[in-house]
Amino acid sequence: MFRTLRERGDAPALLVHAGTLTGPDDGDTPAGDDLAGQLAAGFAAASELVRQASRASAGGPRPDLLVISERAVDVSGHDPLRPANSALTALVRTLPAEDVVAHARLVDLGDFVAARDLAEEVRDRAGDPLVALRGDRRWVPVERPLALTPGTDAPLREGGVYLVTGGTGGLGGVVAKALAGTGQRPVLILTGRKATPHPELLAELAESGATAEIAACDVVDRTALTALLDDVTRRHGPVNGVFHLAGVAGSGMVAFTSTAKAAAAFEPKAHGAVALARAFAGRPPLDLFVAFSSRSVLEGVAGGADYAAANAVLDALVRSGVPTAERLLTVDWPRWKDVGMGVPVDPGAGLDPERGGALLLELLAARTPRQVAVRHFADGRPTAAHPAARARTAPAPRPAPVAAAHGGAGPATTADRLGALWTALLGRTEITHDADFFDLGGNSLTAVELMSRVRDEFGVDLGIVVLFDHPTLEALADQIDRREA
Ligand SMILES: NC(=O)c1ccc[n+]([C@@H]2O[C@H](COP(=O)([O-])OP(=O)(O)OC[C@H]3O[C@@H](n4cnc5c(N)ncnc54)[C@H](OP(=O)(O)O)[C@@H]3O)[C@@H](O)[C@H]2O)c1
Repeated sequence: MFRTLRERGDAPALLVHAGTLTGPDDGDTPAGDDLAGQLAAGFAAASELVRQASRASAGGPRPDLLVISERAVDVSGHDPLRPANSALTALVRTLPAEDVVAHARLVDLGDFVAARDLAEEVRDRAGDPLVALRGDRRWVPVERPLALTPGTDAPLREGGVYLVTGGTGGLGGVVAKALAGTGQRPVLILTGRKATPHPELLAELAESGATAEIAACDVVDRTALTALLDDVTRRHGPVNGVFHLAGVAGSGMVAFTSTAKAAAAFEPKAHGAVALARAFAGRPPLDLFVAFSSRSVLEGVAGGADYAAANAVLDALVRSGVPTAERLLTVDWPRWKDVGMGVPVDPGAGLDPERGGALLLELLAARTPRQVAVRHFADGRPTAAHPAARARTAPAPRPAPVAAAHGGAGPATTADRLGALWTALLGRTEITHDADFFDLGGNSLTAVELMSRVRDEFGVDLGIVVLFDHPTLEALADQIDRREA
């Protein structure tokens, strides 16, 4: 379809995805049921729409995206959610940063919404990215500071048994140490798909009075999960709480990944939470279920729409009471410093693990809403916020344009000026005309930044798809010259 449009010289200016809307007589399944089918109709279909449009319009103006959804956001604190639809909020928050759409918006419809109110949203192409229409009210998200008042209960039960999925990963060790440091002598079962050995960690946990074990268990494998829970219960008693950390990084930018690759991000986070809910059904009730989610839910993350979306589904599941536990908490963490999956992206930056571990215990000891977001400030002190309250806000300011990197005497060629941008971004000084941006260390994130700098420097708006198709300095300079001509 997009190819036909392109051959006719047409390009869609607005993409609309309304594939998750149901009819008035369609019943709803309980939260967490048919996650795969709902993700296929929602996140996967909307991503594919954008992917195809971006391939067809490479180098041309980017279209806008409007997602019309229902049950994707919770305004009142008790709106029924269809958790898979929440994935669309993270997609919308990510796509503009990946430079494949000009604007992306999601309008979530509740009951008694007037057609003219929806029509107004459809016309407002650059409006608030996330809007919930409920009756004659219009809601947009804000984060409000959350004062943590300590509760009366200890964060853990003395000698309690806790399952830490993803406990073999970077943050798994941090969480295990924080739990052991309570002095409550917990039994900690740390799992991953592989039983990665951590002798030093186990020794440190034992010194703090904890009993810790490592076990291999894929959290989406219900048989393995049931066998693990049976074995742990037989040896230590029933599991009292779960810290759900199992997760994998995203599969890359929407334009260049695929539905099959993106599906992997949803496995441990979303399908894992549902598998845990099923595995614990019929067992003694859990005191607590704590999910490790990410701020990418609230901010999007270039190169990780699937990761952000999987976290959004996890948040929505926990808000909907999946799994069941006396205390439910999902925390949208910022990037952590020098530990876990964020290290290769941004070493040395982020939340200090010791402070993060302490904040986790503070959150456990306090009364909090089911979803809490953590901000990391420059002084290193993390702060909890409540992302559920909603009110009208001003749109976020656009980042200031980056100054051009060249500045010599005579007129510089396009390739020279472009080379200066590459040097500034990649830190490489010797860049030949046939050098390939990605061979020099460029990745999808620097690609987005480069195309933004190209826009500022040359005044031409090339999409990143053009860079992937023309990755050498000379070829990209040629594309710029063609657009300038
Ligand atoms: N690091 C950060 O900056 C950051 C920020 C915000 C949120 N988070 C969240 O915190 C959690 C832990 O992250 P991390 O940084 O510690 O990542 P990590 O070091 O990559 O650890 C991920 C853990 O998840 C396990 N895992 C993956 N798929 C699994 C599956 N299907 N079943 C069971 N275990 C599975 C991995 O073990 P195997 O590979 O052996 O399966 C590993 O133990 C993640 O959910 C992440 O989204 C992290």
